[in-house]
Amino acid sequence: MLFGHPVSHSWSPFIHGLFARQFDHVIDYKLCDVEPAEFRRTVIDFFVEGGGGANVTLPHKPAAAEVVNDLSARAERARAVNTIIRHSATELVGDNTDGAGLVTDLVRNIRVAITGSRLLILGAGGAVRGVLAPLLEQEPREVRIANRTPERAERLRNEFSDLGEVSASSFDDVDDRPWDIIINATAASLAGDVPALPPRAVGRNTVCYDMAYGRGDTAFMRWASDRGSIRPCKGWGMLVEQAAESYLLWRGVRPATKPVLDALVRL
Ligand code: ATR
Repeated sequence: MLFGHPVSHSWSPFIHGLFARQFDHVIDYKLCDVEPAEFRRTVIDFFVEGGGGANVTLPHKPAAAEVVNDLSARAERARAVNTIIRHSATELVGDNTDGAGLVTDLVRNIRVAITGSRLLILGAGGAVRGVLAPLLEQEPREVRIANRTPERAERLRNEFSDLGEVSASSFDDVDDRPWDIIINATAASLAGDVPALPPRAVGRNTVCYDMAYGRGDTAFMRWASDRGSIRPCKGWGMLVEQAAESYLLWRGVRPATKPVLDALVRL
C-alpha cells in the first residue's frame, strides 16, 4: 500500500509489481489517497486488518514518523518515514529509504563519486532533510545547502553539521565555480522555474540531478544543459532505488533495479 495525497500519479505499483515478478512473489500493492486528518486512523486500520507493509509519500512522511512505534536511525534524522515495516499488528517500524535511493542512484547508476566531491543542494524542505544524512555519510568534501529562504537552509545546516562539512546560503551566494554535483530538491522545477545560481556554478562535468521526475526533461535539466552540463539527470533512479530498499526491508531480498529503470525509461 502507498499512502499519499494525491497518489494517483504514482509509479510505485508498477515498480513493485516488476520487483515481485523477479521472485515470483505475489503482492497486492495499492494506492490509498488519504487526507491528512484521516492519515493516522487509516494506517492503523490497515495494519490491524493484516496489512503487510506500506510506503508513505507526500504530505504524510512526517506524520508517519509519529504513527510507528519505532524509528530507524535514518528515519529519526529525517524526521520522516517513507516505509513502514510490520513486525506485528501492534509493532510498526518506520524507516526512510529516500536518501539511500538517491545515493545508490548517484553512485551505482550514474557512477559519480560523492566521496570527496563538492556537493550543492538546492532547497531546504522535507525532501532535503530526508536525504542529508545518507549523503553526508558518503563523506563529500563540502556540502552547501542553498535556498530561496536562506534561514531554512541555515536551520538544516545547524541540524546536520555534526555529520560533515555543511554550509548554507541563498542561491546568489553560492560559489561561482563549477560544482561536482548539484541536486535540485526545490519544488521550483515542477512549476517550470529554475534557481538563480551564479553563471559558472554549472560546468561541463557537473552532474545536475533533479529529484523531480516525469516524462521528458525537467525544467532544471534543460537549464543545466543550456549551461553546458553534459550530465543532467532526473529522479527516476532514486524512485526505483528507494523502492528496492523498501522491498528489501519488507521481503529480505533486494530486487534488481536496472530492468525496472529500463522499463520506466521506455514508457
Ligand atoms: P518538500 O518536502 O518537497 O521539500 P517543502 O518543505 O515545501 O517541500 O520545500 C519546498 C522547497 O522548494 C523549499 O526549499 C522552497 O523554498 P523556500 O524554503 O524558500 O520556500 C523551494 N521552492 C519552492 N518553490 C520555489 C521556487 N519557485 N523557486 C525556488 N525555490 C522554490
